[in-house]
Amino acid sequence: MSAPTGPLPVPAVVAGLAAHRPVSAVWVNELGGVTFGIGAPRPVEYVKTYPEPLAHLLAAEVDRLRWAIGHAPVPRVLAWGPGWLHTAALPGRSAVDPVFAERPDVAAAAIGTGLRMLHDALPVADCPFGPPPWVGDAPPPADRLVVCHGDACAPNTLIADDATPAGHVDLGELGVADRWADLAIATMSLDWNFGGEGFEAVLLDAYGVAPDPDRIAHYRARWNDEAPAPG
Ligand SMILES: Nc1ncnc2c1ncn2[C@@H]1O[C@H](COP(=O)(O)OP(=O)(O)OP(=O)(O)O)[C@@H](O)[C@H]1O
Ligand SMILES: [Mg+2]
Repeated sequence: MSAPTGPLPVPAVVAGLAAHRPVSAVWVNELGGVTFGIGAPRPVEYVKTYPEPLAHLLAAEVDRLRWAIGHAPVPRVLAWGPGWLHTAALPGRSAVDPVFAERPDVAAAAIGTGLRMLHDALPVADCPFGPPPWVGDAPPPADRLVVCHGDACAPNTLIADDATPAGHVDLGELGVADRWADLAIATMSLDWNFGGEGFEAVLLDAYGVAPDPDRIAHYRARWNDEAPAPG
């Protein structure tokens, strides 16, 4: 759930995939998983690693990436195995990259625009994946069913240098659900990542929707029940 503060050991599988190219740890999640970038100055490939007991989560992500890439900018799967997922880099930076710390309004707008593009692009009728497990089995009546990202926290939107959305990563929970399952979490994560108030309105305005306080409260409560920590 944050950028690493120093170098981390490079697992053998990552070193093998890098084949003598530069490797750096770019992200550590709350489950102990580490994502490495391969290549410099910017990574051209990424390897996401998860501790062995959670390896099955990457299999779910592989299925979803392979489906979604036909419709929207998401990472191309190059290879995967037990506990690791090797993808081609999307252009752009995470919305929580330090360059956006000074421009949280730009990041919030790009996250909203990006989620709207994702929801408009992914076809509900063709989607084989159901709602993310954290949504539970008694959601309120849907405002609009879309293919949700499923973990729409700010770091999972990538933003191009011209501040337009570049794509989405971390699609292991993608599936059909009410669009507020994404919007409630995306707006909540602005507080974790940028602090302060006011960016929620920027995000929802960029998405093109008025706030829905009841659905926002519902999905945030389900998320907080199920998720160990923000990502
Ligand atoms: N193919 C890719 N192209 C560009 N950036 C990537 C790619 N894969 C991973 N990243 C970067 O690495 C970070 C971590 O990847 P990802 O979100 O998939 O890992 P995670 O461990 O599931 O994260 P979380 O903490 O949200 O659970 C992303 O936020 C993004 O900055
Ligand atoms: Mg992530």
